[in-house]
Amino acid sequence: MSVFRQIGVIGSGTMGRGIAQLFASAGVQVLLHDSRSEATEQALAHNRQMLERAAAKGTLSAEALADALACMRPAHTLGELAGCDLLIEAIVENLDAKQALFRQLETLVSAEAVLASNTSSLSISLIASACERPERVAGFHFFNPVPLMKIVEVVRGERTDPVVIERLSALAQAAGHSAAVTPDSPGFLVNHAGRAYGPEALRILGEGIATPAQIDRILKDSLGFRMGPFELFDLVGLDVSQAVMESIYAQFYQEPRFTPSALVPPRVASGLLGRKRGQGFYRYAEGRALQEALAEPAPVTIDRPFWLDCQDAKVRQRVADVLATAAVVLEQAERPSAEAICLVTPLGEDASSVIARKQLPPARSLALETFAGLDTRRVLMRQPGLDATVLAQARQALGADGVPVEVINDSPGFIAQRVLAGIVNLGCEIAQRRIADPASLDRAVRLALGYPHGPLGFGDHYGASRIMQILHQLHDLYQEPRYRISPWLRRRVQLGLPLTTPEE
Ligand code: NAI
Repeated sequence: MSVFRQIGVIGSGTMGRGIAQLFASAGVQVLLHDSRSEATEQALAHNRQMLERAAAKGTLSAEALADALACMRPAHTLGELAGCDLLIEAIVENLDAKQALFRQLETLVSAEAVLASNTSSLSISLIASACERPERVAGFHFFNPVPLMKIVEVVRGERTDPVVIERLSALAQAAGHSAAVTPDSPGFLVNHAGRAYGPEALRILGEGIATPAQIDRILKDSLGFRMGPFELFDLVGLDVSQAVMESIYAQFYQEPRFTPSALVPPRVASGLLGRKRGQGFYRYAEGRALQEALAEPAPVTIDRPFWLDCQDAKVRQRVADVLATAAVVLEQAERPSAEAICLVTPLGEDASSVIARKQLPPARSLALETFAGLDTRRVLMRQPGLDATVLAQARQALGADGVPVEVINDSPGFIAQRVLAGIVNLGCEIAQRRIADPASLDRAVRLALGYPHGPLGFGDHYGASRIMQILHQLHDLYQEPRYRISPWLRRRVQLGLPLTTPEE
């Protein structure tokens, strides 16, 4: 028996139809309404097709198919929703429209009926402020495609009755979704936590450190992300991403962690929105990204030994093995010889800083990323004083065993380190602000964003003190509050506790 008898879904677009399918499949009666009746017909036809496809594949029984279809009906007028005890709106993302709808619904439905909004960016308290009974209003924020994304944020407005939160959470769980309860905070939980990935990638691009394709390849291969940030921008649409970035920045009163990138507005104005326009950061043909062939560098003669600034015996051995494949020697002395190509392995620093601090010759020195392993993709970081021949030799020698090598420009924390550190730091801030407890935060991010770890789990996996060191260096080099260390992170590192350690 469901916690709600009958659900009215208003707005039969992408989200509304998904929400209807989810609850109808869980055996709850759903009425679907749209101001354009053809939208509801299309939504019901689409849902029927989805469910029939699942039945044809054998993932849904014939009986379950019939039950789900019987649970979904159109409501031609709003008045037909009067008997519903839960109304979920998924109409246009506009405050006035949502407030007007909720005011109208309050005149139709019973005093106990719950009004939920699927808004992704508007304040639930602001929507509820137009209602007679704001205590019955909550956020119920699903992700696209709703039946497959097994997570929903249940957003507590300032006046929302806790019972409403409990009932919505129970309903979500009964339908097989995980409920992440979160306060009415900008971006709620998931969109807030997601602000460290794409925006830092834009920052890296904006500084001329690497190309979008390089940044995507490095983050996928070294940290295990399913999609690179620029692939994601192209999928979501840069116009949609721009709106989210700007809205969260504004709602947090110009918090520097969320400063939007100036690269975005001209691209949006030029229609470089991504897949839907055939061109974004990548070009698309027939819905597929066109891969630009990687230019193979011309082979060079490697006439110098290498020297590695790294105490980790495993890393030293790994690098020595790779170099041996290229018949190149790794020097073992404390200081490099006068011919050696010097490899430094910075944590959070840029190559220039380490080379200057260690008094190494700039023409023969560059940085090798070792933070996330050397097995899938290697990253070499040049600096302004590097000799081009030395770079060509290093690139060839370090790719001698067939592992691809990316060459990027100087950056504190290369690419993977600084993106990861930003994700962990922001997760720590979210935990510190009590927007979610550690376990809910990590689960929500894994389910909604598909990250291999949640932000706190990521930190514990790679070592919280290393993350803190990366941030410390980023903050030091840029001298920007964007990279300041969250107290949640600092305290747990100081006390030797996992980042997932909760707090009262
Ligand atoms: P959509 O444009 O696909 O569908 C919106 C539907 O609402 C349209 O069919 C439209 O005719 C109808 N509509 C507009 N005003 C109405 C009104 N006053 N009364 C009845 N129907 C009305 O939009 P989509 O993508 O489904 O988004 C809906 C809501 O869900 C928005 O608030 C959006 O921010 C939010 N959302 C969207 C996500 C997405 O990935 N598309 C993800 C999570 C939330």
